[in-house]
Amino acid sequence: MKQIKDKYFVPFIEPKPLQARIKALAQEVNKDYAGKNPLLIGVLNGSFMFVGDLFKSIDIECEITFIRVSSYQSTASSGTVKHILGLKEDIQNRDIIIVEDIVDTGMTMQEILGQLASNNPASIKVMTLLFKPTALKVPLKLDYVGFEIENKFVVGYGLDYDGFGRNLDAIWVLGE
Ligand code: IMP
Repeated sequence: MKQIKDKYFVPFIEPKPLQARIKALAQEVNKDYAGKNPLLIGVLNGSFMFVGDLFKSIDIECEITFIRVSSYQSTASSGTVKHILGLKEDIQNRDIIIVEDIVDTGMTMQEILGQLASNNPASIKVMTLLFKPTALKVPLKLDYVGFEIENKFVVGYGLDYDGFGRNLDAIWVLGE
């Protein structure tokens, strides 16, 4: 049991199976992109550890960059508008792999996909370490999924609870 701020978490995915799955995902990328030169786009902050470990196990020629998604309440619309920040690379005609820590409702990924697709990449695939299928609210095609998990709050390995817990080397889940 681990306390982070006011909440208690229990072990969920230990470092060994986590790292084994990430190596397997990297092998899939090595196979699927053989002869190509994909650009991995990590979504900050949550994906930083995952992308780092994944990248080390990819042995084809590839590049990496990071984006951040900001959200704010627009005065002109009732919804929350998300903007992609930090993308300096020209992605036109590139093979893109977006790398996320977790897909929950899928709204963030849908927004990212829409905005990146408008820049005419050659292809876009989505990789997420964790996926909560029962929380998904929008249609989304996920090309590489590390682990499908229940709709419960998790922390560790880059994922945070109110800013904390990102430094843990395993994934922990909120206790009952
Ligand atoms: P979505 O737009 O609902 O899919 O949310 C995606 C973002 O919400 C992720 O990139 C995380 O930052 C955050 N998130 C969703 N579920 C969790 C969780 O269980 N733990 C920590 N962060 C989460």
